[in-house]
Amino acid sequence: MTPIGNPDLTVSFAGIDLKNIGNPDLTVSFAGIELKNPIIAASGTFGYGIEFEDIVHLDRLGGFVVKGLSKEPMTGNPPPRLFETAAGMLNAIGLQNVGAPAFLAEKLPALREKKNVVVFANVFGYTRADYEETIEILNQGEGIAAYEINVSCPNRSEWRRGQSSSNSRPTSHQSRIWRMLPRKRAPTPSPW
Ligand SMILES: Cc1cc2nc3c(=O)[nH]c(=O)nc-3n(C[C@H](O)[C@H](O)[C@H](O)COP(=O)(O)O)c2cc1C
Repeated sequence: MTPIGNPDLTVSFAGIDLKNIGNPDLTVSFAGIELKNPIIAASGTFGYGIEFEDIVHLDRLGGFVVKGLSKEPMTGNPPPRLFETAAGMLNAIGLQNVGAPAFLAEKLPALREKKNVVVFANVFGYTRADYEETIEILNQGEGIAAYEINVSCPNRSEWRRGQSSSNSRPTSHQSRIWRMLPRKRAPTPSPW
């Protein structure tokens, strides 16, 4: 039996050789970063990646974004914080995370062993200094391709303060973050 993970999709159509249809080139270049395919696991849906090793081979993904990281560890919201609905799932995790130093010491080394996976680090904070210090901590490690700046977490009351009444206008938190972005760069290829 042909292995299900690698099916032979070779076809011949009107005399045209379509034998490469089974192995299309899905590579994409995003902000100068080469991804083997455009599938990126969203932040928070994939933990720190390594916990899912038995279920999904990381090297099959184009890349993945780690759970949002802050300067210090956070326990997040008290339960219940996940709720299944007919249309999907609601969550209010509240940015639980191990903190940037523990990520560097305990998670990133294991991720780096997965040589063929592009890692994006999602960072957040409450002040400009929080973002800068978190990125400075993470810059000490190797293997982070770029940073994703988290400017929206509706389940944190701190971030709702100053919430705009219109969806098209940024909250005061977002405005503060956007003002700082052009002045902060990562040493590895970054999206800005
Ligand atoms: C359980 C859970 C945890 C999440 N944690 C984070 C997080 O830590 N940082 C972040 O920026 N987004 C977080 N998200 C948001 C996801 O990264 C993503 O933006 C969201 O699920 C919407 O994706 P979609 O537009 O593909 O539906 C989380 C989502 C879920 C379901």
